[in-house]
Amino acid sequence: MQALRIAQWNFLELLPKSCLTEPVISGQAGAAFHMVMDPPLIRELLNNRVKDFRKGNLIVDLFRSVAKENIVSAHGATWEKLRPPMAKAIHISTLKNFSNVFSEAAEAAATHISKHLGTPLDIESQMTQTTFEVIAKLALTESDPQFMNTVQRALGTFTTEIARFSPLDFLDAPNWLPRPNRVGLSPTIAYGQKLVDSVISTRKQNGPQSPPDILDKLLEAQVADPFITDAHIRDNLNVMLIAGHDTTARTLSWALYLAAFDPAVQEAASAEARAVLQGRPAGFDDVQNLPLTQQIIKETMGLYLSFPLLVRKSLVSETIGGVDFRKNDQVLIPLYALHRSHLHWDEPDSFRPSRFDGTTKINKYAYLPFGGGPRICIGASFAQLQSQIQLATLLSRFRFSLIEGRPPQPKLSFSLISRNGIHLNAEPIS
Ligand code: HEM
Repeated sequence: MQALRIAQWNFLELLPKSCLTEPVISGQAGAAFHMVMDPPLIRELLNNRVKDFRKGNLIVDLFRSVAKENIVSAHGATWEKLRPPMAKAIHISTLKNFSNVFSEAAEAAATHISKHLGTPLDIESQMTQTTFEVIAKLALTESDPQFMNTVQRALGTFTTEIARFSPLDFLDAPNWLPRPNRVGLSPTIAYGQKLVDSVISTRKQNGPQSPPDILDKLLEAQVADPFITDAHIRDNLNVMLIAGHDTTARTLSWALYLAAFDPAVQEAASAEARAVLQGRPAGFDDVQNLPLTQQIIKETMGLYLSFPLLVRKSLVSETIGGVDFRKNDQVLIPLYALHRSHLHWDEPDSFRPSRFDGTTKINKYAYLPFGGGPRICIGASFAQLQSQIQLATLLSRFRFSLIEGRPPQPKLSFSLISRNGIHLNAEPIS
């Protein structure tokens, strides 16, 4: 019960220290569970045994509570129908077109920060705002800021309230048992859904935007395949709006914290960005000339990855890689521990962006910020490009420093937040 109480408020504290030195830990907490930190076994489960190790209820039910027909929870035929059009809507080939929006948002964030110098900056809120504006513009091209504010608040209920794990989730308790943190939120969710429904029906009447946004691309997919209903479009647009901004906001917040934590790395990245950008915000073509920014983002996704836990449920009773999986066992892949494992990394807890300078071999299945196999994140390139553009722009304009006595404390909510926020000082670089 104590473990479950801890899990309720911060799953990370439930990870035993042995996660950092053992490949697999099995035990019982309600259901039997296996924590898997072994790269070959992870590769097997994520790549070759997708049908036998489905997404676990912990994640499936979380997303279904706001979006019944969503891609993250779906499996089988529904997932096969939803994945291609969603991946296509934000495919790497469209990123150049999106990048202007990333650059404009970076400029807007810099302007905002410059107006609030002299007081500690709440970096998490700032980055959440800027990444939400990006995905809202790309998904819905919705010009009315008041409308988007309301959508943002409705979806915010998901990340701050609903998406907190409940001890009942860990016990794999049936859905009809109400989770206390989700009780009473149905009207907020229903309201958010109604808002998005109204945008969809208006768009159907008025036709596509120019250039077409993510909603237009999903509606196009519906014309090609009538299996895709309006409910699919609404629910998956909501998933895009949530997953498409919250995770990137976390990456940027932790990256800025780490830059402030290591002034030498920050100075080098800032000098690199200033030399390339010459005062303008970063854009698509600059990214290849900003290797240190890219390394900082990759290292941040190693140490403070936004989505630090993959959850699967075993549908088979079988011994795989020496582990006895039984039907209905919970399979946890704690990426947070995998990325800090002493078995796979030198100085795993140190901030060392040079790990990613191309001279060191990285074990692919020991570094999985976007998951792996067929269910790998569809937004990986989108998130990395946006993160690099925003980080390079901000580091070229400001010097960030830590505030004494306020170190952030990592906590797994929907994504990896800091329990006490991330607050930094910023001073302009003249
Ligand atoms: C730094 C940013 C991001 C991180 C760290 C991240 C991480 C992940 C991870 C680890 C998974 C796999 C989950 C699993 O296998 O259980 C995933 C899946 C997914 N992500 Fe991301 N993500 C990020 C950004 C995005 C963005 C920008 C979008 C959309 C615009 C997105 C949409 C999705 C979707 C739809 C899935 C489910 C794919 C499927 O099940 O087929 N993510 N993400």
